[in-house]
Amino acid sequence: MRVVESFKTLLVDEVGPVRTVLVNRSGVLNALDATVLWELGECFAALAKEEGLRCVILSGAGEKAFVAGADIAAMSKLSPWQARAFAAAGHETAAAIEALPVPVIAAVNGFALGGGLELALCADFIYVSSKAKLGFPEVGLGVIPGFGGTHRLATRVGIGRARELIYSGRVITGSEAVTFGLANAIVEPESLMDSVKTLANTIASKAPLAVAEAKRAMRISQGMPLERALVMEQELFAGLFATEDQKEGMSAFLEKRPPTFRGR
Ligand code: CAA
Repeated sequence: MRVVESFKTLLVDEVGPVRTVLVNRSGVLNALDATVLWELGECFAALAKEEGLRCVILSGAGEKAFVAGADIAAMSKLSPWQARAFAAAGHETAAAIEALPVPVIAAVNGFALGGGLELALCADFIYVSSKAKLGFPEVGLGVIPGFGGTHRLATRVGIGRARELIYSGRVITGSEAVTFGLANAIVEPESLMDSVKTLANTIASKAPLAVAEAKRAMRISQGMPLERALVMEQELFAGLFATEDQKEGMSAFLEKRPPTFRGR
């Protein structure tokens, strides 16, 4: 992987429509300290400004972990005030990932625990390897999920399953994650990145403004009453008829040829 950004704790691959961001803290299973949180926030803020970007894959470096949670050694000494600031830093990072205008796919290659699962939940959807282990062990450490897990897990899997996982701290397998609706698919470890890249390239081949507006519609409508969500959807749908890509996509269909999208 060619590293084009000078992050201490992240590996970000070459420029292109599909980028891969790997959390990279060997020795601690990619655990999240203040530096990783800050660098992830900076990285996603920079990606948000990148022209030509179509999809981002978020994963963990190494074979064992996506991210094994917030750094317990760093957290163990925090005062309540410092813990509040640490949670706020996690929330800011989560918001930067979630707000990226293009889709983010989390490729969970191993342990995704606590803050690690919270990061994955900021992605648009999750693919897991058959080696993945996911869960919220926080109550076993005397705390609760602090980077948005209590809300985002419930949104993804329903309140009953979220309560069960968070109260028990139970760690689930990749196949259970698919059954729960937490992950979309399970793939053998050696095929995970290829599968996710193939999917990312399919997304990248579609009309970019349409994909971005689809993401915006689904993100903003979370928690909105249906009538308001439909008004917003109608406006976004209508707005796309001002794009060259809409004309190209529909002309290409009628002329029985593949479309060439320009993101305009
Ligand atoms: N923080 C700091 N260090 C961690 C870590 C974490 N979250 N997870 C693993 N490590 C370190 C271990 O301390 C160990 O370091 P040493 O070699 O120096 O002892 C190294 O990574 C390798 O880990 P293990 O030897 O424990 O590996 P294992 O295969 O036996 O177990 C594991 C793997 C089950 C993931 C185990 O490491 C583990 O339980 N980790 C903690 C998981 C956890 O509780 N995460 C939630 C944190 S709280 C949180 O995230 C709060 C929040 O929402 C903000």
